[in-house]
Amino acid sequence: MVPVLGVIVGSVRAGRIGPTVAQWFVRHAEADGTFDVRVLDLADVVLPLDLSGGDGPDAVAAWAGECDAFVLVTPEYNHGYPASLKLALDSVKHEWRGKPVGFVSYGGMAGGVRAVEQLRQVVAELHMVSVRDAVSFGRVKRAFEVDGTTRDEVAPDAADRMVGQLAAWVRRV
Ligand SMILES: Cc1cc2nc3c(=O)[nH]c(=O)nc-3n(C[C@H](O)[C@H](O)[C@H](O)COP(=O)(O)O)c2cc1C
Repeated sequence: MVPVLGVIVGSVRAGRIGPTVAQWFVRHAEADGTFDVRVLDLADVVLPLDLSGGDGPDAVAAWAGECDAFVLVTPEYNHGYPASLKLALDSVKHEWRGKPVGFVSYGGMAGGVRAVEQLRQVVAELHMVSVRDAVSFGRVKRAFEVDGTTRDEVAPDAADRMVGQLAAWVRRV
């Protein structure tokens, strides 16, 4: 059976570039062919501010439960990751457990890597395994053409390595 890779679009603000970044990665991962790639855009989900009870939003739980591996697409906001992404990660529990996760980040000069370093700490607490290689787009506003392609020469190779590492972990568990 083809394993399922869940790609989460982490930013939800109006005018965001997140979907452009995510779609680039989705096309790349689909061309690779290792995974059945499915997207969860957090802008389409009602995320609970109150985490006191229940199993969280059904939409996130059902979607995450069907995925074998994840990629979090995250911007950098004030040297961190967006609150929407934290809410999504906090809102369900066992659906993340024991599954590998990679990152596609973007931002200014640092390309979102500070957000990713923080996310690695969070996903470890959720019993996820974060893979080493990640994709990072610096100066993201200039990184994509109108047709969604990128002239970034590093990103495709990094994406290949990350997808390969996710696949290796999926085969192991
Ligand atoms: C509240 C806020 C804080 C930001 N802080 C940073 C930052 O610390 N480092 C950085 O590189 N870019 C920062 N940026 C720029 C964002 O990375 C850039 O606007 C990016 O497009 C945001 O992703 P989005 O369009 O998907 O929301 C910030 C943007 C916002 C809205």
